[in-house]
Amino acid sequence: MPDFPWDSLAAARARAARHPGGLVDLSIGTPVDDTPAVLTQALAAAGNAPGYPTALGTTELRTAAAGWLRRRLGVEIADPLGADPSLVPTVGSKELVALLPTLLGLRTGTLVLPEVAYPTYEVGAVLAGLAVRRSDVPPPDAAGVVLVWLNSPGNPHGRVLSDDRLREWVAWGRAHGVPVVADECYITLGWDVEPRSLLHPAIAGEDHTGLLAVHSLSKQSTAAGYRAGLLSGDPALVRPVWEVRRHLGLLVPGPVQAAMTAALDDDAHVDAQRARYRDRRDRLSAAVRAAGLRIDHSEAGLYLWATRDEDCWTTIDRLAGLGIVAAPGSFYGPAGSRHVRLALTATDERIAAAVERLTA
Ligand SMILES: Cc1ncc(COP(=O)(O)O)c(C=O)c1O
Repeated sequence: MPDFPWDSLAAARARAARHPGGLVDLSIGTPVDDTPAVLTQALAAAGNAPGYPTALGTTELRTAAAGWLRRRLGVEIADPLGADPSLVPTVGSKELVALLPTLLGLRTGTLVLPEVAYPTYEVGAVLAGLAVRRSDVPPPDAAGVVLVWLNSPGNPHGRVLSDDRLREWVAWGRAHGVPVVADECYITLGWDVEPRSLLHPAIAGEDHTGLLAVHSLSKQSTAAGYRAGLLSGDPALVRPVWEVRRHLGLLVPGPVQAAMTAALDDDAHVDAQRARYRDRRDRLSAAVRAAGLRIDHSEAGLYLWATRDEDCWTTIDRLAGLGIVAAPGSFYGPAGSRHVRLALTATDERIAAAVERLTA
């Protein structure tokens, strides 16, 4: 396994904690606002759950998920209730990201992931025994490549892939028979641009051959504790994943499926949370710039990708002196070593404290 790097932040965290105004932890993107009532009530109402749930998900959940994909992302799932599943719920998206190569039966070859990336793509490759290659563009040489991960909007840098770049990957994957999978867990959080799904007809064309998309309710519905995600796309890929998930017992609990159904049918709570993050982003980004950092990308998603054109650990140390903990960009690949990632997932009160210190 790759190192679990968070322990290396202990010294910065200890330094930041000595700030008289207390620590502002912007290092981890875990939501802090209350889970909306539309989810908590649906979860409680479904609390009597003596029987096993199914890996496929309830009819209600698959209907709501297909409706959400159509309404919010313009994605038409071929036959969400058909015998050949084109959509399954997942226990949050992290397990799916980590297990997908294994669930697809990939045992040799190379997994392509973004230059600067969420570490779990690599974990999934290592678990399946695959090699890793980092690339933001379709590689000229496809030899040995068995799977491609895209992430748009991206963690840690908030970059959104253009329609042209997405189409290039689709064409490349189809030409070489390599599945292309887009992790779109931040897709409802576009700020300066509207992120497009890999499964949108303008990208995928008439069908989803060779393509998968991953979505998550953790951030958009402030429900990371529920573990609620979705996998959708080409039935020829979703079916084998679903079949192995049934054998493994990778089942989303029934009450969580009910909460997901209610959440996917409701746009109001997603829009309200989005407005909260927008406000925090506006305030924090102005303060980060005022403190002399440059913000790169960050046109979408839950993070500011900031740099002082110095080694990220120097920036981490400076921020720790202000009582602020950020994530070093080197956690996400060598190309991230001069950036830090600041999460928008802190309370309004803690964001205000960070703004005050950065602008003092
Ligand atoms: C890019 C990316 N993918 C997937 C996940 C996993 O999210 P979850 O398991 O909560 O759905 C995260 C979590 O931060 C992420 O940043």
